[in-house]
Amino acid sequence: MGERFRLSFRFRLLFLALLVAAMSNHQIPALTEASPSLGALDPLRIKRLEEQASALRNSVICAFNQLLDLKDLNTGVHSTRLAEWGMRVGQELGLEEAELQNLEVAALLHDIGKVGIPDAILRKPTRLDPEEYALMKRHSEYGWAVLRMLPGFERAALDILHHHESFDGKGYPAGLKDSEIPVVSRIVCVIDAFDAMVSSRPYRKGLPYEEAVRRLTEASGTQFDPVVVRTFVSFAEAEMSTVFAAAGTSVSSAL
Ligand SMILES: [Fe+2]
Repeated sequence: MGERFRLSFRFRLLFLALLVAAMSNHQIPALTEASPSLGALDPLRIKRLEEQASALRNSVICAFNQLLDLKDLNTGVHSTRLAEWGMRVGQELGLEEAELQNLEVAALLHDIGKVGIPDAILRKPTRLDPEEYALMKRHSEYGWAVLRMLPGFERAALDILHHHESFDGKGYPAGLKDSEIPVVSRIVCVIDAFDAMVSSRPYRKGLPYEEAVRRLTEASGTQFDPVVVRTFVSFAEAEMSTVFAAAGTSVSSAL
């Protein structure tokens, strides 16, 4: 309990430092000095403010992504591939722009809460015992606890909270099912599983594409949303090398 609070406090300090650094970089404090009221802003200035807000948002995402890299280099690459897959599935499903933005954040930072999980559990080469597994499962909650503090990231925080829910209601942390699970979480769940299956780890080789798709299809309707699986499978093979290249890897090096 005490250890968890110490981690949580360090996490909050780190986040605040990142936010302050990003804000000073993009001169956000200066935004209010010329025009005290929003009514006085001309369209050009509004556009500039939107660009600055977007740049700040991207800085925060990049900083957190680098934090993932520091924890485990492979995770950062995995997250970047998920963002690429996520955009493709989201667009194919007709998600609106705001939801696509949340999807990008959730795909990149879905496992940010693992920073709060002890290395002994994260890197344990053998099967986790029930107590360790219970702690590991808290990473989605930890990720939500951090991201929800960022203005504009509240929705993505909820999507991260639910990225391990199962379509049949047997997932965690809330046991949501079907459309109760946010659509972004349902998408991240599918692409996360796929990328984990096809990626090689130091202790095992990645599965062939066909076997990964077979497992996704097999769990469609139980673990995974069937619509998301169908949509993903419809273009995954054709897009695989582009997605891996966009993340700075190649299919052959990862499999
Ligand atoms: Fe996760």
